[in-house]
Amino acid sequence: MTVIKINAITVPADSGDELARRFAARAGAVDDQEGFEGFELLKPTDDRTTWLVVTRWRDEEAFDAWVSSRAFGQGHQQGSGDESEPKRGPVGTHSELWSYEIAGGSRP
Ligand code: HEM
Repeated sequence: MTVIKINAITVPADSGDELARRFAARAGAVDDQEGFEGFELLKPTDDRTTWLVVTRWRDEEAFDAWVSSRAFGQGHQQGSGDESEPKRGPVGTHSELWSYEIAGGSRP
């Protein structure tokens, strides 16, 4: 059964664009990961400062395997991601992992 893992990242209002740029630079990086079913980066449109990375996985094992992988470590190493980029710090000030399963819904 599909599991939903959400990384909720607190980003100062003036750093949102930079977060979006960093995600855009890595958007396809997880596509080949076994059991990965997709993700969206959700930007707040009210005055909240919490951005959501909503990811979907075939099961818990698939998500755990990705988080333990070298690819995750490399992609989430501070100031890296791309060797050609200069070192830079994280734009988020806080992050939390939220775990959900689909309990209902519909899709036209
Ligand atoms: C639920 C799964 C995920 C977890 C647990 C996770 C974890 C994290 C954490 C802890 C941060 C640091 C936030 C901060 O700046 O304080 C972060 C940032 C980031 N993550 Fe993820 N992440 C997840 C999914 C993804 C996915 C699917 C991608 C896209 C390939 C991705 C790409 C990034 C990028 C580009 C940043 C910004 C890093 C920076 O500031 O340079 N993450 N993630």
